[in-house]
Amino acid sequence: MKRKIGIVGATGYTGVELLRLLVSHPAVEITCVTSREHAGSRVDAMFPNLRGYLDLTFTAPSDEALSACDLVFFATPNGIAMKSAQTLLDAGTKVIDLAADFRIKDIAVWEKWYGMQHASPHLVEEAVYGLPELNRAAIRNARLVANPGCYPTAVTLGLLPLVENNLIDVAGIIADTKSGVSGAGRKAEVHTLLAEAGDNFKAYAVAGHRHQPEIAQTLSTIAQTAISPVFVPHLLPMIRGIHATLYAMLTTEADLQQLYATRYAAEPFVDVMPAGSHPETRSVRGANVCRMAIHRPGNGQRVVVLSVIDNLVKGAAGQAVQNMNLMLDLAEGTALQQPGLLP
Ligand SMILES: NC(=O)c1ccc[n+]([C@@H]2O[C@H](COP(=O)([O-])OP(=O)(O)OC[C@H]3O[C@@H](n4cnc5c(N)ncnc54)[C@H](OP(=O)(O)O)[C@@H]3O)[C@@H](O)[C@H]2O)c1
Repeated sequence: MKRKIGIVGATGYTGVELLRLLVSHPAVEITCVTSREHAGSRVDAMFPNLRGYLDLTFTAPSDEALSACDLVFFATPNGIAMKSAQTLLDAGTKVIDLAADFRIKDIAVWEKWYGMQHASPHLVEEAVYGLPELNRAAIRNARLVANPGCYPTAVTLGLLPLVENNLIDVAGIIADTKSGVSGAGRKAEVHTLLAEAGDNFKAYAVAGHRHQPEIAQTLSTIAQTAISPVFVPHLLPMIRGIHATLYAMLTTEADLQQLYATRYAAEPFVDVMPAGSHPETRSVRGANVCRMAIHRPGNGQRVVVLSVIDNLVKGAAGQAVQNMNLMLDLAEGTALQQPGLLP
């Protein structure tokens, strides 16, 4: 029998990406898609790419209706999933939150960065951080998964082999990151207008960005020592894609190409390119893959890792489907095998 799936916030960019991926998943059936603003409208009237794939209308979010699902994705702003998660879990419904409600273990840190009181702090400890390359076994057994942020996915996967093996000076990590505008979601905002974001390039939130404590938490847990990388995001005039350029000083002469190739050899959604490569965001557009290359300029002591993802796929909906597959004991790559869309 197909598993019943609900999506809260199905009119947003990560919501429609979940729909695009899940309509071709053989083991699940989308039964409930919510929108407060568009309740009563057909999904394929808003998203014509889904015509012929999905015969559903948006409904207003209701915990009662969502509790009839086997698993519910929250593709909503921060602070929404935390209000419904306990009710759904009590009903036996598994939950994946694409927002940040369950990502940060220290409640005071979360409340500082997200500017609200946490509605279900008791669930934060239980929630599993949904990076399969790090937490696969725990995700398989989880009821509640905190899907990682888009930048944290690109940065963490890019640094993981170095940090796990204690091969860099962790005090000097710099994560220089760039994202396309779909990272800001579908809601209307001036800074993502074509005439503002097009033909332009800028940094933002240099003084502090919410993804910094998330990256710091994961890296610190892996290294078992406090790590607080410099994290600088930029806005690129493109729709999809994240490019992370990661810098650190090496404390080793180890063969880094071999290290990365071995660490990710069994990972279906991490691609380590040959030495000297430059991964491009367009090579992962629409694909659930983190593609990376490792450099050591001038053969010196500084390592430079280039890591690219599609923010809406490996950075959000694709990774969430990967987590769903693990949680429902399905083959991990189901519905996620498409290569990137080129050109
Ligand atoms: N965009 C990305 O690349 C990306 C990557 C990783 C993670 N994320 C995270 O994923 C989440 C969704 O992002 P997005 O880009 O898809 O956002 P979005 O395009 O702005 O969509 C948000 C969705 O949530 C619904 N919603 C808003 N307020 C709600 C509420 N109070 N209760 C229930 N539903 C509500 C909206 O529909 P209605 O208002 O009609 O209900 C809409 O469908 C965010 O937390 C974001 O930080 C995004």
